Amino acid sequence: MVLKSSGELIGDCGLAVQNIEGQGEIEIGYHVRRDLWKQGFATEAARACRDYGFSQLKAPRLISLIRPENIPSRRVAEKNGMTIWKEIIWANLPHSVYAIHQNEITARR
Ligand SMILES: CC(C)(COP(=O)(O)OP(=O)(O)OC[C@H]1O[C@@H](n2cnc3c(N)ncnc32)[C@H](O)[C@@H]1OP(=O)(O)O)[C@@H](O)C(=O)NCCC(=O)NCCS
Repeated sequence: MVLKSSGELIGDCGLAVQNIEGQGEIEIGYHVRRDLWKQGFATEAARACRDYGFSQLKAPRLISLIRPENIPSRRVAEKNGMTIWKEIIWANLPHSVYAIHQNEITARR
């Protein structure tokens, strides 16, 4: 993630394939520099990745893997149109799997 006004690197956001209970799922992940939190950057980037995943990769479903106590990350997923699909143990820790399906986006447009 690069700040358009200055060209500065301020974080990362992108798509990665994750193994969720034996199945490959495309995850949207994000990290923003702490001094720039709460300005909408993660939400903007996550939405762009969601739209790319559906329109270019033709993914049927996109997920975000989130530790339940990570409120900011949960808000980003919710603002990205995702809801909790299931709760799992991932990397030895409890995680909420947020998901959105291709048809949910099409229906909204
Ligand atoms: C999660 C993260 C990427 C959010 O980045 P961000 O650019 O601040 O997110 P946004 O500005 O788009 O905000 C999204 C929502 O989260 C809320 N939020 C952001 N930081 C918050 C905080 N510290 N406490 C409470 N809410 C917070 C915002 O208010 C907004 O919700 P709202 O519209 O209801 O007010 C950032 O907190 C981060 O980098 N965290 C560490 C890395 C991480 O946990 N990544 C996710 C791993 S699953």
